[in-house]
Amino acid sequence: MKALILVLLGCVSVLGMKAAEAKRPLPTDGNTQLSYFLNSERVYKDYMLQCAGCHRYDGQGVESRGIPSFVDSIGLFSRMVDGRAYMIRVPGSAQSQLNNDELAMVLNYIVARFSPEEFERNGFRLFSAAEVGASRPYRFDDVAAARKTLEMQMEEKGWLPAPYLFGQAGR
Ligand code: HEC
Repeated sequence: MKALILVLLGCVSVLGMKAAEAKRPLPTDGNTQLSYFLNSERVYKDYMLQCAGCHRYDGQGVESRGIPSFVDSIGLFSRMVDGRAYMIRVPGSAQSQLNNDELAMVLNYIVARFSPEEFERNGFRLFSAAEVGASRPYRFDDVAAARKTLEMQMEEKGWLPAPYLFGQAGR
């Protein structure tokens, strides 16, 4: 009986740890958030295993394969409600092996790493598991058309996202 209680207690504490990890407090000011994401080994590993095969270590993508660069570009998407949903819904994000919390952390990481000025401006709204969960089930029929619509909205604001060749001949 004693052994059973100990086993049960063990299970409860493991579950408790998982919950604590999901709800870990994240820093609230921009510069501390920036170094948090740049120094998190876990999120780095998730990016390297789940995204870097296509987007590359340096976020430059592979233009000839239609993989856009994140550099000085991905942060622009994170400023717009539809742009944030797009970042969650693209196949590489939505269909990855990452759970909602891990994907939220990777999206924060790609902005921190490749568009750090978003954090430095101190107005960056972090992606959360809840935000990811709300958009993730809605897959795009035509991801290139969704990107085009966002590009047009950005053009009106004078923002210049990275070139996007996905869906064009041969890609
Ligand atoms: C198998 C290759 C592949 C993998 C792996 C991959 N992506 Fe992508 N990603 C693409 C391609 C191709 C595009 C362009 C088509 C599109 O918009 O989905 C893209 C586009 C994107 C975009 C839109 C960028 C823009 O400028 O329009 C985001 C954001 C993105 N991916 C995030 C991720 C994240 C986060 C991961 C890892 C969890 C990931 N991707 C994994 C191939 C990949």
